[in-house]
Amino acid sequence: MVADTVTETDAGTRLLGEAIRGRFPVFERKVYVNSCSQGALSNEVRAAYEEYLAGWDEHGAEWEHWVERAEAARVAFAGLVCAQPDDVAIQTSVSAAVSALVSALDLSGERNRIVISENEFPAIGQIAHAQELRGAEVVQVAPEPEAYAAAIDERTALVCSTLVSYRTGAVHDVGAIHGLAREHGALMLVDGYQGIGAIPIDVRQAGDVLVGGTVKYLLASAGLAFMACRPGLVTELLPTQTGWFADENVFEMQIERYRPHRSARRFDAGTPPVPNIYAGVAGAGLIAEAGVLAIAQHVRTLVERLVAGVDELGGSLAAPALGPLACVRSTDAPALVTALAEEEIVASERDSSLRVSLHLYNTADDVDAVLAALERHRALLA
Ligand SMILES: Cc1ncc(COP(=O)(O)O)c(C=O)c1O
Repeated sequence: MVADTVTETDAGTRLLGEAIRGRFPVFERKVYVNSCSQGALSNEVRAAYEEYLAGWDEHGAEWEHWVERAEAARVAFAGLVCAQPDDVAIQTSVSAAVSALVSALDLSGERNRIVISENEFPAIGQIAHAQELRGAEVVQVAPEPEAYAAAIDERTALVCSTLVSYRTGAVHDVGAIHGLAREHGALMLVDGYQGIGAIPIDVRQAGDVLVGGTVKYLLASAGLAFMACRPGLVTELLPTQTGWFADENVFEMQIERYRPHRSARRFDAGTPPVPNIYAGVAGAGLIAEAGVLAIAQHVRTLVERLVAGVDELGGSLAAPALGPLACVRSTDAPALVTALAEEEIVASERDSSLRVSLHLYNTADDVDAVLAALERHRALLA
């Protein structure tokens, strides 16, 4: 279930729109509505990379500090999804996280089914199908809970649902789907990449395992992701895709046995992606400073404005836009992206739709600029 309570961080400032966009230089030149692809670069994230380089230059191998930064990232991600830091693993990508998770599942017996929806990101579908080599049966369903219900039974090991579809913008009812998984003793994985940072979510209620990364709404760059588990789950899982940072004591350097850490660190793998961690802590810090609930409310207002404008233009959406991403159907989406780019509007496309995603730094003026451009290119609306 998507969290609906105001947390302490959310009670803070209205550090949104005009009040924060000065920290993101891209807005001096562009109308940037492409956070679904890559969050905008902030001064803070740039400074974090510079701090990493300066420290490396000044002190040499700052291992202790670098490991401390990884722990700071764990705490930051935990805070964003209502998890305990000990239930959060640091990963280099969602693909790595999900591969590690499925490596902990026994798929050789009767409970070998993995249920995915047609809205999953390719990483999820492809990793699920790779498990066919280990005995899994993959069932793909429509994104609605009713369709999941028809596929989930006592043969189901894992249920996967995206939180927000990268291709339609649809927000899945992960609470209802999780209820179905629980009823049948299956584990539920929520891919929160297209929502975390712009939609409040609570891992204690939504799914057993929640994965996300820093590239989009967490405002950092590639090479850092995380996996958060509901309380009590970690010790039930023994990943066979592992690495030395997953050991009970990484600094003991033992090679005698597999000795997974008692916490979600058992899903950590090799040397942490230190530069990306510096950036990720800074990006997640900006989100925490603004507050996820406040961001979600801000984004909602902007998305509603966009949807009303698209409707007035006679356009349509690939799915109701209840999250930060609206997918505007087009007769030629690549041409529409190019046309907008010529007007300094940065958007993206997937599946015959223009993707417009809105985040804490966007304003009503950004939305109006997109709508004005869509009006000029009305012929490309479907
Ligand atoms: C929903 C979703 N999941 C996963 C990913 C990417 O995962 P990875 O970190 O493995 O590149 C993306 C990237 O676009 C995404 O939109």
